[in-house]
Amino acid sequence: MKNIAVFASGKGSNFVAIDASIKQGIIDANLCLLVSDKPNSLSVKKAEELGIECFAFDAKQYASKKDYERIILKKLQEKNIDLVILAGYMRLIGSTLLHNYPGRIINIHPSLLPAFKGKDAVGQAMATGVKVTGVTVHFVDEGMDTGKIISQRALDISTLKSREEIEREIHKIEHILYPITINKVLEDLR
Ligand code: GRF
Repeated sequence: MKNIAVFASGKGSNFVAIDASIKQGIIDANLCLLVSDKPNSLSVKKAEELGIECFAFDAKQYASKKDYERIILKKLQEKNIDLVILAGYMRLIGSTLLHNYPGRIINIHPSLLPAFKGKDAVGQAMATGVKVTGVTVHFVDEGMDTGKIISQRALDISTLKSREEIEREIHKIEHILYPITINKVLEDLR
């Protein structure tokens, strides 16, 4: 069975959905590790509750991205991680991890990429007045939300009134689309 690690800095709802999907048999993998750059985040608390090993670090304690990514890499290698899953991890992945996990790091983003890259994709969609936005899962490269697209799902927001409503619907889609996509990517790994 394949081993996966999730990187999360936020509320961790996707992390929890991934764990639940493994338990439901939607994803055939072991969830071995949570990596977080926010030691006080809800995602870290969820990992503790679920009994999943966690490596939480403060980037300010390291001289460079290389320094903390070397430590992350060691943890990933110790656990024989096959696929790295970003779920609200707010840092660009550097060359240390990219070179060691080519085609094996994926991310989920709350827009139909290539529209609305970067921070606050929902706010960007609202400000632009688009009627349709959505969710994208993509491979990670050195850019910000630029890697090859794996799956997408659209959401009609023309009748949704508030940011909260849009975010709730986006999360509902994410919690279904990400597990299905993760399992497909794992099947495609040699
Ligand atoms: C999600 O909306 C995801 O698309 C984005 O960050 C958010 C993470 O949410 N990359 P959560 O922490 O999983 O609840």
